[in-house]
Amino acid sequence: METTTISNKDSEVEKRVPTLINGFDKLIEGGFVKNSLNLISGPAGSGKTIFCLQYVYNGVKYLKEPGVFITLEESVESIRSSMKRFGIDLRKYERPDKFSLADLGAIRKELSIEEEVQSGGLLDLDSLIEYIKGVISLTDAKRLVLDSLTAIGIKYHETSTIRQALFRLGRFLRDLGSTVLVTTESIPYQNKYTRFGIEQFIADSFILLNLTEINGILKRTILVRKMRHTNHDLHVHPYKITSNGIEILKGRDFYNIKF
Ligand SMILES: Nc1ncnc2c1ncn2[C@@H]1O[C@H](COP(=O)(O)OP(=O)(O)O)[C@@H](O)[C@H]1O
Ligand SMILES: [Mg+2]
Repeated sequence: METTTISNKDSEVEKRVPTLINGFDKLIEGGFVKNSLNLISGPAGSGKTIFCLQYVYNGVKYLKEPGVFITLEESVESIRSSMKRFGIDLRKYERPDKFSLADLGAIRKELSIEEEVQSGGLLDLDSLIEYIKGVISLTDAKRLVLDSLTAIGIKYHETSTIRQALFRLGRFLRDLGSTVLVTTESIPYQNKYTRFGIEQFIADSFILLNLTEINGILKRTILVRKMRHTNHDLHVHPYKITSNGIEILKGRDFYNIKF
């Protein structure tokens, strides 16, 4: 079984790509729309990276779908360590036809000083697009993660240039033939859902993670704010990160749950 198949009211058939994250797929009719571009936004520490790692790993492990995780912020070692805490030895799966873990931050550092100066020391969009094309043709990945968009956006100083770059990247990722997750930082104290204010418009879906302090305790919540072609859940749900990874709870448990 590669994906689950769901019929909607118009009897169209949408292929769904399940995350297999505990309690999440039932909020979105069984999974992400196949080959769609999906945005995971949340403040630092909300669990964006863990969510995306579980998405790729579950595809590899349980559905035999090759996956690629591109990290632009954390090192490969840090990613492997966090998976170890969930009892997963990523190295066992790191092969082109299984789980490919690429640290584009490190690749960037290997550029010559001259090239780095030319690219402003930050990741160039054309290089990223070429890299992704290459990795997809090598791996035939059905799931791809780009964690995060921030490293791409901050290369550009002008708001209009950031918009252009992100829209271009969005168009490219939508046509990739892989179901893509990208992450971005939200800034709750500025009431900003996304770092650059436009990431939600380039994506087919928008999942918002949050950290709220209630009576001196941080509570984690998740909300599906948008998902094209999907009658998605509209509730704010609490979730936990345990030794099994992310677990979404029922909305009504919000005030009672001990996190
Ligand atoms: N093994 C674990 N058990 C419970 N919580 C964890 C574990 N590992 C990480 N966390 C929680 O997840 C957070 C980091 O998640 P991460 O996905 O890296 O966040 P983000 O990418 O949104 O910055 C940590 O701040 C911690 O609260
Ligand atoms: Mg992260």
